[in-house]
Amino acid sequence: MRAVVSVGGSVLVPDLDSGRVTAYADVFESLLDEGYELGLVVGGGRVARQYIGAARNIGANEMALDQIGIGVTRLNARLLIAALGERAAPRPPESYETAATALHRGDVPVMGGLVPAQTTDAVAAGLAETVDADLLVYATSVAGVYSADPDEDPDATRYDEISTNELVDVIGGIEMSAGSNAPVDLLAAKIIQRSDTRTLVLDGSDPDRIRRAIIDGDHDGTEVVP
Ligand code: UTP
Repeated sequence: MRAVVSVGGSVLVPDLDSGRVTAYADVFESLLDEGYELGLVVGGGRVARQYIGAARNIGANEMALDQIGIGVTRLNARLLIAALGERAAPRPPESYETAATALHRGDVPVMGGLVPAQTTDAVAAGLAETVDADLLVYATSVAGVYSADPDEDPDATRYDEISTNELVDVIGGIEMSAGSNAPVDLLAAKIIQRSDTRTLVLDGSDPDRIRRAIIDGDHDGTEVVP
C-alpha cells in the first residue's frame, strides 16, 4: 500500500515544538515498519503566514510572496526529514520525478512547495498522481470537507463521503467566497478528480489519527471516493 500524506504546517508546527515533529515522525516510521510506502508533503503554517505578511507590507508582489512561502514549507520539510533520519531522502525534492525516484529507491520523499500560485495541497495531489498512490491523506486543521465554509455558514455540514467530482463542485463553491477556508485548494481537487485518487481529509492535529485512518480506516473526516 502506497500512501501520500500531506501534513499541514498548522498541525506539524503550530509552535516550533521538536517533540511534536518527532511524534509525527514516529507515526510515519511505524507505518513504514508495517510495510507502507510513504510520500510526505509539509505545509508552511504560521511561520509562512508571518513571513508572507511581513514581505507583503514591504511591498513584495504575489509571486515573490509565494516564493517565500515555498521556502518556509521546505524548511518545515527539513525538520521532518531530520526527525525521520535515514529513512527520508536527505533534502526536500524540488520536482515530482525526484520525489518518485526517492520513493522507488526506498527513501521517504518529504516535499514542501514546488511552484508559485498554488499550495502544498496541490503538491500532495500531484505527488499522489505521480507515484500512483493508493491513498492520499490530508492531515489538516480543517476536519473534513464541508458543504460550505463552516466559519461563514452555520448550516455547513461535514460530508462523511463525497465523490471526486462532487469535491470539485464543493471546493469551487467555497473558493468563490472571498477570504474563506477550503480544506484543499481547487487545483488539488482537480488533480484528485482526474487521477481518481482515494483521498481522506481529516483533523491531523493528533498524529495517531493519521495512523488509525491509514491502518484501520478509522477517522471522523471525509473520504473522497473515485
Ligand atoms: P501552504 O501549502 O502551507 O499554504 O503553503 P496554505 O494552504 O495557504 O497554508 P495553511 O495550510 O492554511 O497553513 C504556504 C504558502 O507557500 C506558497 C503559497 O504562498 C502558500 O500560501 N506555496 C506553497 C506556493 O506558492 N507553491 C507551492 O507549491 C506551495
